[in-house]
Amino acid sequence: MPDPVITAAASQIATCRATGQVPVIRTFFDIPTFTATHVVHDPATRTAAIVDSVMDYDPASGRTDPAFAQEIVDYVTAEKLKVEWILETHVHADHLSAAPWLQERVGGKLGIGDAIIRVQGIFGRLFNAGTRFARDGSQFDHLFHDGAQFRLGTLPVTAMHVPGHTPADMAYVIGDAAFIGDTLFMPDYGTARADFPGGDARMLYHSIRRLLSLPDETRVFLCHDYKAPGRDDYVWETTIGAERRHNVHVHEGVDEETFVNMRTARDATLSLPNLIMPSVQVNMRGGNLPEPEDNGVSYIKIPVNQA
Ligand SMILES: [Fe+2]
Repeated sequence: MPDPVITAAASQIATCRATGQVPVIRTFFDIPTFTATHVVHDPATRTAAIVDSVMDYDPASGRTDPAFAQEIVDYVTAEKLKVEWILETHVHADHLSAAPWLQERVGGKLGIGDAIIRVQGIFGRLFNAGTRFARDGSQFDHLFHDGAQFRLGTLPVTAMHVPGHTPADMAYVIGDAAFIGDTLFMPDYGTARADFPGGDARMLYHSIRRLLSLPDETRVFLCHDYKAPGRDDYVWETTIGAERRHNVHVHEGVDEETFVNMRTARDATLSLPNLIMPSVQVNMRGGNLPEPEDNGVSYIKIPVNQA
């Protein structure tokens, strides 16, 4: 059975490459969290989307730092871009989103996958977030389903649900470029972990197989890079062809069982990201801090002996 979402995305990519209708992409790399924030725009209309923004945060002092997010605002302003979307590929566990801070300054609708509701259920319980924390995705302006199509200016966009790292991961295919979040990393580094609450290595394998069935020439933009051994620079762009042939974890020929065994064994050796507690509590609220307490201050909780 052909996958209709892949068929639609593949034909979009082929058409955009044939007609030269491709986005301009500028990436900003946040070194403290190893995150790539992409500003994508349609050169015909200057309509833009910001994918996976970062608000830096010092957990020792509990202070946010908008310097990196300000670089995005400066670029958008200098390039006279009209921000229509602020997109999240998922609820990140390693950095805080700058989405609401950016939205106040440059506008745009905040979008994420519709499975966010499951993620809010899981983390709402884990953090005992109470009845004031809505678990219906209402903190976001739009929830995308698998196969959702829209336009960024004149550019066609297809959203794909690619769960596994978390239940709600999305990839956004904009023109000929796929923003794939935490699924694949650079071919020499491998794949995202699948051991967070709601993660599933088998599901991740299937999502990656879907991505790898896009055309070889698809430009691929990653959410993170950690430099692979022997590589000195951060890199965040590759192609589906390069991933299919060379990805160290999941190149062509790696079957599901081999991948799941490798991923599960590797995940057992990884420690949790430094910023997992603040990141999850903020990002499940669309990048907003938890509701302030009666003294007007927001607090980040840590469940002791739980996670
Ligand atoms: Fe992530």
